[in-house]
Amino acid sequence: MTRPAVVALGGGVIGDLAGFVAATYQRGVSLVQMPTTLLSQVDSSVGGKVGVNHPLGKNMIGAFYQPALVWVDADTLVSLPPREIVCGIGEIVKYGIALDSDFFSYLELNLEKILNLDPEALFHVQSRSLEIKSRIVAEDENETGLRTILNLGHTIGHALEAAGKFQLLKHGEAVLLGTVAEGYIANRLGLISNATYGRIVEFVARIPFKSSIRNLKTPDILRAMKYDKKSIGGNIRFVLPFRIGEAKLVDRVESKLVVDSLTHLRKVRS
Ligand SMILES: NC(=O)c1ccc[n+]([C@@H]2O[C@H](COP(=O)([O-])OP(=O)(O)OC[C@H]3O[C@@H](n4cnc5c(N)ncnc54)[C@H](O)[C@@H]3O)[C@@H](O)[C@H]2O)c1
Ligand SMILES: [Zn+2]
Repeated sequence: MTRPAVVALGGGVIGDLAGFVAATYQRGVSLVQMPTTLLSQVDSSVGGKVGVNHPLGKNMIGAFYQPALVWVDADTLVSLPPREIVCGIGEIVKYGIALDSDFFSYLELNLEKILNLDPEALFHVQSRSLEIKSRIVAEDENETGLRTILNLGHTIGHALEAAGKFQLLKHGEAVLLGTVAEGYIANRLGLISNATYGRIVEFVARIPFKSSIRNLKTPDILRAMKYDKKSIGGNIRFVLPFRIGEAKLVDRVESKLVVDSLTHLRKVRS
């Protein structure tokens, strides 16, 4: 009898859901990821994290389940709303800041081309992002070490997303804002220079962005952060840049500094 396969044709939400179905149906059938958003083409379709949300938390029920094939077709992006392109850049920029300074420089030089879906620029960012992600996942599939680095921008990003009840901000937008706020924390801790932090802020400032965090309340954001999967015993941990191209997990960031980073974020990106 031929075994069934699940084909996930869509964005990250479809990929995560269909992947979870593939992981559990008959205790696992083949999975093919056919991502159709920039975010899913550079990130979520690769790496095997699949799952669904639960009222108690995002991705609360899920598995690590690798696809047999990932098929990326950039032509699908032609119909994608511009807001979703911005979301993809939210995940792309973390690869540059956390792991590859040349890639970050490329993004700085070619941002407008990427926003305009220039085929050559798109091909470069898709292939470089997937190369980086697959190398990290091959070394640390279950995120016990190195893979954590890919959470740059995500501690504050997830908290902003949750404080906005997953309606106000899309995931990639929240990650972009989280990258700025976490860059601020790294700068205040003396891990990155003013010039390096300036590069991060300037890059994000060039990205057209409509969602506002003006109405998000700091206590709600801090509460959401306590549930971050990287926090241990209530101690919130951050992946912070040490320079462009290198990031490390840092704990014991004082909550006063986190509050300052949110105040600062509202100033530079309200
Ligand atoms: N599994 C992982 O490793 C991983 C990594 C990053 C993000 N995620 C998850 O992925 C989700 C975000 O994924 P996303 O940004 O792809 O959003 P999405 O799946 O919600 O898609 C965004 C919107 O675009 C539409 N769409 C998809 N493809 C289209 C196309 N080609 N043309 C026109 N419209 C199209 C969708 O219907 C949807 O309305 C979040 O839930 C996030 O948590 C998972
Ligand atoms: Zn993400």
